[in-house]
Amino acid sequence: MNSMVITIDGPAGAGKTTISRKLADLLDYRYVDTGALYRGVAWMAERQHVDLEDEKALGAFLQNLRLNLERNGSGSLKLLANGEDITAEIRTPAMSMAASSVAKRPQVRAFLLNVQRQLGAEKDVVFEGRDMGTVVFPQADVKFFLTADVLVRARRRHAELPDHAGQNLKDVLADMQRRDAQDAGRDLAPLAAAPDAVHIDASELTVDEVLAMMMRCIRDKSGIQGR
Ligand code: DC
Repeated sequence: MNSMVITIDGPAGAGKTTISRKLADLLDYRYVDTGALYRGVAWMAERQHVDLEDEKALGAFLQNLRLNLERNGSGSLKLLANGEDITAEIRTPAMSMAASSVAKRPQVRAFLLNVQRQLGAEKDVVFEGRDMGTVVFPQADVKFFLTADVLVRARRRHAELPDHAGQNLKDVLADMQRRDAQDAGRDLAPLAAAPDAVHIDASELTVDEVLAMMMRCIRDKSGIQGR
């Protein structure tokens, strides 16, 4: 059985988390939601009142931060920060923007690069994020760039927010456009497709159709059959 690292990059709301999790199940791989790690940094920094402009303070904060992703009984991921379960806390619109903002910081990216590469050392992992195929795992075996029309993405995100988090569709759309622009426009490791990534536009595809396309690519590359 080949051992592989598979990356899925793309903008917010394209379906990366659902697809990564299901793809990992089909292959019997682990999956890593790297956005959750950025959210974890943002949440802990906010709670500890870390001044993000102060490099020394940010460095000391990161040195004492331990982030772990564990799979829970339902198959979704649980995020632990210094042992504390903050899975629910990081899934708010405010934390989405805060994560996108801390993600511009070189110290934060260097810290998480390390965490992510350690998680990938044993292979057999599906990583989802913004720079997985370009920066973190440029040698990944199979790379996907998953996108969808921004309105489709905003509708999905609006529907999945508990009680819509008090936002209407217009708010969600505006936040998403702002976040995409910030993620794609930053200097360091911006949201981008790797030159060798397979592009999938999921605007009009079901989850199963996207998975079938991905499995075909993976089989072509590796001979893996999956479940
Ligand atoms: O995937 P997500 O929406 O949970 O990610 C939250 C933010 O984290 C996203 O807006 C940008 C940042 N991020 C990043 O810069 N690089 C990654 N590999 C993953 C996320």
